[in-house]
Amino acid sequence: MILVTGGCGYLGSHCAVELLNNGYEIIILDNFSNSEKRIHKQIENIANKKVKLEECDIRDRKKLDQVFLNNKVESVFHFAGLKSISESFDKPEDYYSVNIIGTVVLLELMVKYCVSKIIFSSSATIYGDYSKLPWHEKIDLNIPDSPYAQSKIIIEKLLKNFSLKHNFLKVAILRYFNPVGFHHSGLIRENSKNSTNLFPEIIKYLNNEKPHINIYGNDFDTHDGYGVRDYIHVNDLINGHIEALNFILKHDKTYNYNVWNLGSGKGRSVLEIVNAFEKQLKRKLKCVIKPRRKGDLGQYWADINKAKRELGWHPKKTLHEIVEDSLMSLKE
Ligand SMILES: NC(=O)c1ccc[n+]([C@@H]2O[C@H](COP(=O)([O-])OP(=O)(O)OC[C@H]3O[C@@H](n4cnc5c(N)ncnc54)[C@H](O)[C@@H]3O)[C@@H](O)[C@H]2O)c1
Repeated sequence: MILVTGGCGYLGSHCAVELLNNGYEIIILDNFSNSEKRIHKQIENIANKKVKLEECDIRDRKKLDQVFLNNKVESVFHFAGLKSISESFDKPEDYYSVNIIGTVVLLELMVKYCVSKIIFSSSATIYGDYSKLPWHEKIDLNIPDSPYAQSKIIIEKLLKNFSLKHNFLKVAILRYFNPVGFHHSGLIRENSKNSTNLFPEIIKYLNNEKPHINIYGNDFDTHDGYGVRDYIHVNDLINGHIEALNFILKHDKTYNYNVWNLGSGKGRSVLEIVNAFEKQLKRKLKCVIKPRRKGDLGQYWADINKAKRELGWHPKKTLHEIVEDSLMSLKE
């Protein structure tokens, strides 16, 4: 059985569906701090299967112990965590607590119950402001500014140390670039209430929840002045998780710890994304330029050759499909 922490969140819910589609039995754990209980039903509806759900904070050792005691967990897909760079500057203690302490509690219980495999959601933010592009897994990491990115670096180190100390523990670190898009059913989506990221901004505008799309900075040192990011369709990202698990299972005897970037390998500017939506919708979108957000970089994208070579994985979805699937999530 696979424990999916944060399984009702944006990425966890998409992963839950994919694991079910691949025949895995799963149990979802979430405290619903950034998701809704109805997502559990939606996952069951899409996959046409019943799914166990535990409402639990990842830091609640007593309750989490019961989850491991009562279920034969063999692997953990660890999505639970706080994820906003800007919010982490305001509430650093929450980010250290949920992300780091939560992972320590999880790991200690995995060791107690001899649960051997963990796939962890890391982030491209740990590369900081490294200037040479594209970003690859061998870059030396410095301590980044944001408490969010710091928490991810510390967790990566923790996972490495745990895997060195406990030989049976197998760790896959996946460093995500910018996951976007949704399952084509439109039934599971990101809780974007407080997000100022580009795709949530566009979706909120198209749902008439905002009078315009806020764009943070058009004076970056990039080809068109707009921020450039590496947008990857959520389905491609999640397939990378399935391939990482397959890789661990295939190399069970020798595998210990590994890190892979998951991105599209392409940098696309905010303007290019807005243009792609405009092309698909055949109308202009109203954008307003705002000052840059704290911690925002000009441009970055991933070197994904390691994941391609070792996992046999590559992203398949085009920008057109990303836009199309995002539009599926619009309210009727
Ligand atoms: N979405 C992105 O752009 C992105 C990029 C890089 C890395 N990540 C990482 O991927 C993971 C999942 O991201 P997401 O976009 O699905 O976020 P999300 O907020 O949609 O999902 C996280 C889920 O974890 C739950 N959660 C939060 N704190 C918890 C706690 N203490 N105990 C139990 N559950 C808790 C939330 O309720 C939510 O359902 C996070 O660790 C995030 O840092 C996300």
